[in-house]
Amino acid sequence: AAPRIVLGIESSCDETGAGLVRDGRLLGHAVASSMDEHARFGGVVPEIAARAHVHALNPVVRGALDRAGLRLGDIGAVAVTTGPGLSGALQVGLAGAKGLAYALDVPLYGVHHLAGHVAADTLEHGPLPDPCVVLIVSGGHTSLLLVRDLARDPITHLGDTLDDAAGECFDKVARVFGLPYPGGPAVDRAARDGSADAVAFPRPLTGPGDDPYAFSFSGLKTAAARWAERHANGDGALPVADGAAALQEAIADVLTRKAVAACAAHGVNTLVVVGGVAANSRVRALAEERCRAAGITLRVPPLGLCTDNGAMIAAVGDLLVRAGAEPAPLDVSIDPSAPL
Ligand code: KG4
Ligand code: ZN
Repeated sequence: AAPRIVLGIESSCDETGAGLVRDGRLLGHAVASSMDEHARFGGVVPEIAARAHVHALNPVVRGALDRAGLRLGDIGAVAVTTGPGLSGALQVGLAGAKGLAYALDVPLYGVHHLAGHVAADTLEHGPLPDPCVVLIVSGGHTSLLLVRDLARDPITHLGDTLDDAAGECFDKVARVFGLPYPGGPAVDRAARDGSADAVAFPRPLTGPGDDPYAFSFSGLKTAAARWAERHANGDGALPVADGAAALQEAIADVLTRKAVAACAAHGVNTLVVVGGVAANSRVRALAEERCRAAGITLRVPPLGLCTDNGAMIAAVGDLLVRAGAEPAPLDVSIDPSAPL
């Protein structure tokens, strides 16, 4: 039989995504974001996000089908993010996915959001080698994972952030610097005109006695806020570009240092960097430089697949279908704080 076409639906945060994948290949995807509606609150408002998913879900599914040149009836399975994420937001995607799976009489698969971020890379670069180390860096997560077969083996958690996620640090410091939301891309842009050496920000948890795979970004956030305050109390204007470049350098340094160390310690020669912060130009450049020096192959999905999308969920669904995994029952629930 021809491989099934899998529709993936993502709605865990502020992006509504739908993607279509068959046999490891992306056929088309579409994403709508409610980011602008959250901007004036400085962060994602769960109730607004959930309502936006209600508006966007059907048009986004239609958009993905149009781009792929397919019809609803071509869908052979539906995969949907069940967690982790905002509960109201997840509910909308799951309810929509259930309705489609039921009406089309096709199997439904629940997908872990982070497995989706990992699988995003396979759509561009093919199957992942077993094993590989994955650095997931987004607004909600900063984790180092040891990944074997995504469809069959549980993911091993090597380390996590003890407080803020790296993306959260970008977003919060950007606010202090007077940069627009979301902060990550704004800091990235501002940093182009700055000097990373202008400010010496700390490199948290990189000391000899520290957990090699744990991260902490709240101290860095505080250090950046103090630096901005000191300038506000002086008379000169805040050198935002320098602050942005130095912040970006500190985050990129810590992330890539620990990720490369994890590869070395586990004898792994492929590092995959995924999540919204993988879009950061300095994180990418430094990861490339350090992987090259260590003889590690670096894989980073294309920018459009780094941030939340439905294609990455379809990619996991496609792996599950091809591995013969058991579909989810139609009464499956969301799991907002899903562990790995
Ligand atoms: O993966 P994602 O779209 O959503 C989740 O959090 O799951 O990641 C969003 C995060 C935000 O914190 C955003 O500021 C950050 O990724 N981000 C960036 C860049 N683009 C997005 N951070 C730094 N530099 C960027 N270029
Ligand atoms: Zn995400």
